Amino acid sequence: MTENKDMTVVVTGASGRTGSRVAEAARAAGLTVRPASRAHGFDWSDPATWPGTLRGADAAYLAHPTDVGSPQATEEVGALAREAVALGVRRLVLLSARGEEQALPTEAALRESGADWTIVRAAWFMQNFSEGPLAVELRESGGLVFPAGEVGEPFVDVRDIAEVVVAALTSDGRYGGETIEVSGPRLLTFGEAVAEAGRAAGRELAYRAVSPEEYRANLTGFGLPPAEAAFLVGLFATLLDGRNARLSDGVERVLGRVPRDFSGFVEEAAGAWKG
Ligand SMILES: NC(=O)c1ccc[n+]([C@@H]2O[C@H](COP(=O)([O-])OP(=O)(O)OC[C@H]3O[C@@H](n4cnc5c(N)ncnc54)[C@H](OP(=O)(O)O)[C@@H]3O)[C@@H](O)[C@H]2O)c1
Repeated sequence: MTENKDMTVVVTGASGRTGSRVAEAARAAGLTVRPASRAHGFDWSDPATWPGTLRGADAAYLAHPTDVGSPQATEEVGALAREAVALGVRRLVLLSARGEEQALPTEAALRESGADWTIVRAAWFMQNFSEGPLAVELRESGGLVFPAGEVGEPFVDVRDIAEVVVAALTSDGRYGGETIEVSGPRLLTFGEAVAEAGRAAGRELAYRAVSPEEYRANLTGFGLPPAEAAFLVGLFATLLDGRNARLSDGVERVLGRVPRDFSGFVEEAAGAWKG
């Protein structure tokens, strides 16, 4: 699967949830990784920092730090992809999201850049529960308040996303022009996921479903600007309306094995929820 082991790959978001695992999987595959985040002098919002990061690389993983469906992501992913192609970095793999209508313009901007593109559309990450704001909420409050109702979601392990991304970066065009959807192996409601996390951590963790309106009020109450809160609530309403309550076969198709299960994830991540 990995045919180009002397490749140099730019990994954006290299200190983040997916980028750190993409960097790890790429190194394990024998690739040279060029990490790209602000600590490495790369800033999505400052195009002057792009050429120094891209020049001389063979491929790049693009994970935009704001949601992939935001207008900022559309503009910056498109501009960066065009710059990469101009500099000879043709193979670009974009992280997108399953069922996210708002992300379609960003995906189109990549396709129209002239790159040899692959789009990896992921389900909700398992690691949303163990890294970032939801993890802090679970650990500190003993619960999660979220507008997900009782909908099922096939949470995916970011390590599986990373392995699929590395396959797409290295397989000599085999996944060029493809959109690969990746999910975990089973549907869980947010309530079931939180309960599994609690059992692994040895404490009771509770999920409380709230309306989008209540969630929006919570976010602005925590200081999020109203426009950002409205964007997030609209996004979650789209992602959690039942359209994503289905499995995707991308991990099995690309890696030839079943995706990692939520039960293994909670065992490994249990420390994140201990009070
Ligand atoms: N969460 C989900 O379930 C899910 C599902 C599907 C798709 N996605 C997509 O995943 C993407 C986020 O990826 P992630 O969760 O792996 O990232 P993340 O964990 O949120 O980390 C963000 C990364 O981007 C870097 N960064 C932040 N601002 C930057 C800037 N201005 N310039 C350059 N680098 C910057 C950060 O490092 P520094 O702070 O050091 O710069 C960090 O490495 C979003 O586009 C989202 O739509 C998420």
